[in-house]
Formats: sequence, C-alpha cells, structure tokens
Amino acid sequence: MGERIFIGVAWPYASGPRHLGHCAGAYLPADIFARYHRARGNEVLMVSGSDMHGTPITLKADQEGKKPVEVATRYHEQFVDTFKKLGISFDLYTSTETANHAEVTHDFFLTLMKKGFIYKDKVSQPYCSGCVRFLTDRYVEGTCPFCGFAPARGDQCDQCGRPLNPAELIAPHCRMCGTKPVFKDSEHFFLKLTDFRDRLLEWMVPQEHWKPNVYHFTRRYLEEGLKDRAITRDIEWGIDIPLPGYEGKRIYVWFEAVIGYLSASKEWAKTSGDGEKWRSFWQGGEARSYYFIGKDNIVFHTIIWPAMLMGYTGLNLPYDVPANEFLTFESKKLSTSRNWAVWLPDYLERYDPDSLRYMLSINMPDTTDTDFSWREFFRRNNDELVATYGNLAHRVLTFTYRNFEGAVPTPGELDGYSQTMLDKAKDTMKTVDEFLYRCRFKDAIRSAMTLASEANRYLDKKAPWKAIKQDRQASATSLYTAIAVLSCLKTVFYPFLPFSSQRLHTYLGFGGNVADPPEAGWQFTVPPAGQKLQPPQPLFVKLDEKLIDEETSRMGHQD
Ligand code: MF3
Ligand code: ZN
Repeated sequence: MGERIFIGVAWPYASGPRHLGHCAGAYLPADIFARYHRARGNEVLMVSGSDMHGTPITLKADQEGKKPVEVATRYHEQFVDTFKKLGISFDLYTSTETANHAEVTHDFFLTLMKKGFIYKDKVSQPYCSGCVRFLTDRYVEGTCPFCGFAPARGDQCDQCGRPLNPAELIAPHCRMCGTKPVFKDSEHFFLKLTDFRDRLLEWMVPQEHWKPNVYHFTRRYLEEGLKDRAITRDIEWGIDIPLPGYEGKRIYVWFEAVIGYLSASKEWAKTSGDGEKWRSFWQGGEARSYYFIGKDNIVFHTIIWPAMLMGYTGLNLPYDVPANEFLTFESKKLSTSRNWAVWLPDYLERYDPDSLRYMLSINMPDTTDTDFSWREFFRRNNDELVATYGNLAHRVLTFTYRNFEGAVPTPGELDGYSQTMLDKAKDTMKTVDEFLYRCRFKDAIRSAMTLASEANRYLDKKAPWKAIKQDRQASATSLYTAIAVLSCLKTVFYPFLPFSSQRLHTYLGFGGNVADPPEAGWQFTVPPAGQKLQPPQPLFVKLDEKLIDEETSRMGHQD
C-alpha cells in the first residue's frame, strides 16, 4: 500500500491578483509535492480555495464601490484560471462562499462551544465616529508595540509577523478616514487558546522534521504564552454565527478559513461520489498532512488550527508546515500599493508556465528570502532551460530522428562511460526522491539540472554526429544512452516542469500521461530500441534580452 498524503495550500484572499511571491511561497511547492507523490504511486488529496471573506475583501469592495461578493467572485474566477495555466494540480479548488463550507464551519463552532472551548465575553472594540461603525482589525492602523513598525495593521504586524489586537497598537487611527477610534463594548465569542498551550507544546516540541524557522517561531510563541482570541467580528460580510441574536456579527475570517481544509475535503469526497472518502485523509492518523503556506501564516497553521483540531477531536493534526520565506522583486520588498510585484495573470499572458516554475524552483525561498529579477529570469531561461536541458533534448532527438529512421536506435554493448551515465541517471532519481520527500525543492531541481549538464558533456565527448561516419554502432549506443537519460530527466523534472515533461514524453514516443505508470513507483522507463519517436520540437523558447527592460519598466507603474 502506498502512503496517503493530504496537502493543504494557503487560501488566497480574493481581493487582488496573485503575484509570483504567492506562487513561490505556497502554490508551487505544494504542486511539486503533490505531483511527486502521485508519481510515486501515493494517494494524494490537495485542496485549497479562495478566501472570500474578511476585511481584505470589504476594503477592496469599499475602494471600488462594489459589493464584497462581486469583488470576491471576480478574483475567484481569475484564480481558477491562473492555477490552471500554471498547472497547479488541485484535486479541488473551491471557495469559502459555499453552503458546504458554512455548514462545516457551523458544526466546528458549535462543537467547540459544546466542549467549552468557545465562550462569550464583552470586548471593547474600536469604533470610528467618522465612519459611524465598528472597525474590524484591518481597518485600524498604528505602530506595532513589539517592533515599532508602522503602519502595522490591527490584525498582524507585517514586519515581525505577530498577530495583534487593534487595542495594542500605538497611535491607532481609522484606515478609511484617519479618525482616532474610540473603544466601545461589543459582545463576542472567544476561542479558549489558553487551554491548549501545554498540549500544543507537548505536541510540537518533538516535531524535529519541521523547518528551523517554523519550529523556533512556534516554540517561542508558545513559550511566551497564549491569549484567548475573539473569533467573531462586527462586520456584515462573512459566515454568520449559528445562534440567534448575533445578526450583525460574523465569524472571524481566520477561524473559518482554516476550517476550509476540512470542508474542501468533504466537498471533494461528495463530488467524487463517495461522501465518506475524506475520512481516510483526516482520521486514524495514517495519512500525513502537509500545509504549504507563506511565513506570515505560520501561527495560524502551527498553533490556532492545531488547537481547533485538538478541541474538536478525532481529526489528524498537521504533520508538517513547510512554510516558505518571501520573494523580493529586484531586491526590494514587494508592495501592492506601489505595484512592486509581478502579477501571475500578466506573466502567464506573455511567457511559458514552465519557465517560471523553473525560475521559482531553482531559486525557491525555502530557507531564506530570495530575489526575483527579470535579468535572472532571462538568464536562467536561456542558459539553463534552453541551453542545457532543452538543447540536450533537441540535439539528441533531431539527430536520432533524421539518422535512425525516426526510432530509438539499437545500442551495442555499453562502454564504461555510457554505463556510468545510466548509473548517474539512476542515482539522480534516488537523490531527487530523497530531497522531494523532505520538501527540499531547490536541492531536488538542482540535482536534476546537474544530470542534464553531465549528459551534455557526455554527448560532446561521444559526438555521435561525428562517430556515425565511421562507426554507426557507436553512434547508436551513445544516442540510445542519451535517450535513456532524457527519459530520466522528463521524470525527475516532471513535478517541477509538467508541461515540458509531457512534451518530451511524447517526442520520446510514449503515449498517455508522463505521470502514468510505468513511471509509477518513481522509476524511469528506458524507451525500448525501435520505439518510434515523434517529430521533435524545441522544448523551451529562447527569450529576447529586450524583455528585461520592458518588464522592469512595467513594475512600479500604476495603470
Ligand atoms: N487568506 C490568507 C492570506 O492570504 C491565508 C489563509 S490560509 C488558510 O494570507 F488556511 F487560513 F485558509
Ligand atoms: Zn473612519
């Protein structure tokens, strides 16, 4: 029996397009991991959806003079399109605006309440006399009391990552009109996080496979002590409270968004025809759950969601939360307001998804922040994808196609160098396997690229295009070997570069999907001698250097 892997991916706020940082931070690593496990023959469930509620959406709707639902729906549709073009292979991508999600959220809320983990209390809430309404956290800005960063939002500081209450901010003011809010009493529901602190510590301390930043952040946070947190808000957009008398209030977006992992799994099960199927990924502890998120979301996935799951009981806790660091653009911190980002829909309109997937994998911010620059994108595309991997495939396939009747040549006995090449391919399969299993994406793709470079050296040395004149057999042997290595490359690159791997799979004369058996079990198939090749095309497009200036000048412009 294979392993069972649940993959939860951060739910993007449907309040604006997604940029390359989101892709490198969560969607891409999750997709690589999912494709890898499926190709390994494991059972995978990868879900996410659009986070439709909360103040990021209402703020945007206020700006545009639209209803929150209109704004959220528009971006949700855009996200679906973006993920499809990028090849993010969700088993289900849904949204928090479904009846199913509301139902699962209500059940979670009421269950935690019945067990005594949710209680009611009066809180003093910021109220803006200018706007004549209560202000939810993100509508209040001020200075972070922990690190001094300004403007920190009332829900979280963007610099130190600590969750905040508006009341903790120094010099608070209303984001919409600048008025200093007054605090008025309002009744809210609280999650009793204090009850879970010891259990959370006991659970997380042994998780030594977590990344150091995730581990230390979580541990320090728990050791500093937890506070109960309000999980309802004075707002009209969101999921209602399943009790009478709270019509003007809604469930806090973070409380319900994390429940999305479970509600999406249930929705997936229902649509797959077996409504109970979600259980094997959530109950009994046999499946392992991975949550792919950016580092600003760590506390919600290593503390709050696990506490909610502990309180609910009977559902698997996270096995790993391999949060990524941030991507900077041209060495500067991303900024939406200054349009300092590269937006995925814009990228996908102009370039190949695999070029981006390559750039963001080989430069993944998995342990430190990394930088995206158009020059580096251009260089990696042309020097590495095109000149190393693409060129290897193209010269082997076109030469074989022309000189060996469009089929895989029959090799003679393999000489030492050819045998070494094949052994290296097998070793690379193993190395990539080990790296991917431990979510070390950058190391994994680097090993794959090293094999492509070695195969190029092999080919230069063997020069089958020269050998063919005196020794057709020797030429056939080295081409056969190179074709076997190509078949390995399409497999090890598959999780990262699914589109080009599929093309190469076809050129090599295989039918069906590159991830189908006999590839299952993380093996590569050596195409048998005589297998008909398809007319080869270049795997990747060489880019013009002009793009560097063109694209760089687009950034920072408001239009
Ligand atoms: N919408 C949040 C963000 O974009 C992420 C939510 S992740 C979830 O930062 F798990 F809570 F859904
Ligand atoms: Zn105001």
